[in-house]
Amino acid sequence: MDILSSDEIKNIRTSVDIVELISKYIPLTQRGKNYFGICPFHDDHTPSMSVSKEKQIYTCFTCGATGNVFKFIQDYENVSFREALKIVADYAGIDINIGLIKEKKAPNQELYDIYDISTKFYQNNINTIEGKIAKQYLYDRQITEEIIKEFQIGLALKNDDLLVSLLSKKNYSKESIMKSGLVVKRKSGYADIFYKRIMFPLYDLRGRVVGYSGRIYNGEDDSKYVNTMETEIFKKGELLYNYHRAKDEARIKNQIIIVEGFMDVIRLYSVGIRNVVATMGTAVTKVQANLIKRMAKNVILCFDGDDAGAKATFSCSNELANIGVKAKVVRLEENLDPDEYIKKYGVEKFQYKIDNPINIMDFKLTYLKKGKDFNNNIEKADYINNVILELNKIDDDILRELTINKISEESGLSIDLLKSKLNISEQKQEINEIVEQKNKKLTKYEKAQMYLIFYMLKSPSVIKTYEKKVTYIPIEKYRKLAYEISYFYKKNNKNKMEEADFITYLSQENEKLIDVVGDINSLNLKEEFTQEEIEDYVNVINEFNIKNECKTLRKKIDEQQDITSKAKMLQRIIDLKKEK
Ligand code: UTP
Ligand code: MN
Repeated sequence: MDILSSDEIKNIRTSVDIVELISKYIPLTQRGKNYFGICPFHDDHTPSMSVSKEKQIYTCFTCGATGNVFKFIQDYENVSFREALKIVADYAGIDINIGLIKEKKAPNQELYDIYDISTKFYQNNINTIEGKIAKQYLYDRQITEEIIKEFQIGLALKNDDLLVSLLSKKNYSKESIMKSGLVVKRKSGYADIFYKRIMFPLYDLRGRVVGYSGRIYNGEDDSKYVNTMETEIFKKGELLYNYHRAKDEARIKNQIIIVEGFMDVIRLYSVGIRNVVATMGTAVTKVQANLIKRMAKNVILCFDGDDAGAKATFSCSNELANIGVKAKVVRLEENLDPDEYIKKYGVEKFQYKIDNPINIMDFKLTYLKKGKDFNNNIEKADYINNVILELNKIDDDILRELTINKISEESGLSIDLLKSKLNISEQKQEINEIVEQKNKKLTKYEKAQMYLIFYMLKSPSVIKTYEKKVTYIPIEKYRKLAYEISYFYKKNNKNKMEEADFITYLSQENEKLIDVVGDINSLNLKEEFTQEEIEDYVNVINEFNIKNECKTLRKKIDEQQDITSKAKMLQRIIDLKKEK
């Protein structure tokens, strides 16, 4: 059987209404012809994503995200084009075989393959005689055979040259092997980074193995876990452990639990709590915060019960607050982590804590108060000032009011005084202002190129004008995009330009150009245009080219010795100027 044709893909696309589909993820409200919502692709506060029912595309006027149903799912769910196609088809009730969808080889395919091989290798090791002690260690931690399989837990054996020889035998070059971050070069030769460790695969957002955390299991070494170095496919700050398994469950429950260690995730998973991801012991980055935001509205931070865990809760909640997420907090007693807590007190007690989290300000009050002596006025003032700083950060009037009442009671200071210390800045910018600012930053020439392409995306007549009258678009990304539009239009041989199908085409052929489409669409130009306006853009572009050519010629004339050549070039300049 053949791969899916573009008509079949189009059929899937048009079986689903983009407004309906996006509404499943973010609330949309109708304003005029279009629907608006808070953009999930940047830290949006005012609804700046517009969804067009008519064109079946969305555009964010602030960050420039744009696309059709497939692109939305791709970016929202962090999946590949073919997976997005499958999700949309399922949604429409259309049965497709995902194997039939053409997928380009990933740029780092070799690295993924190396990780695939090494995962199988480590998994195999743990089932050998040498793996017995490691297995016993896991069993002692109540990690069952089933969980070992599900999380692909493996073992790196004693010798430190086993993986590098296996990969060499499979004909991977030393360069590729080094790129994987699994091998180091020593004076004595190449050696595996991991040996004598239980290997926990780390996954990217799509569930591919891209790294490992290796744990000591019988004594001696000083570091508990050793992690893979950052590679082209492994950026620790851009992923969350277990994201691919947790996201659907999180959406169903509308709740995501954030823990520190991947062992905590594994424990929770094995007792049936599956809407969990781990930050893996580092400060939460903006990228991770955005991933959390997309998973579910209710976010619960359940870090380790020790001071480090409290500190991490504090900073993570701030990173989340920056993008408008109000997290709730669970604190575990006796410095326990979730794994230990469940082992000691059982899952019901843990679940009860998850069902009754504390709000972020209550957590912060306790955190800031810790160790402060309220009989000492300086320490007391320090506490109040810190609380005020935190109150200024949150975007929740009610919580602010409640907290003010509370600290007024605690401190004996009047509510009015405390309120006078607040400075809530309301700087919500209107979309129109944002768009205007964007437009202002553009030069006349850049504008002409972008505007021309904007209308090429909407109308065949503009494509035809471009083909007839524009010889060269100066800026490369616009030149490439214009070329693709014209190619796509010719190939489809229809009298309409369907932007949503063009985006499908770019998803398959040149995904990066979709961002350029987004930059252009987010200029929010009016739909109607006159031929005169189009001619104007064309003239500005051609004038720019002429100017440029004259400049180059003049430079050449200066360098040229030969009089006749000089004269020829001078004549060319004169001719060019007449063209103008
Ligand atoms: P923890 O020390 O809390 O791990 O570190 P844990 O989950 O309790 O592990 P066990 O129960 O002792 O086996 C939390 C996370 O920090 C990272 C790991 O990703 C771990 O999951 N970490 C910790 C390291 O990378 N290196 C270390 O030496 C320690
Ligand atoms: Mn632990």
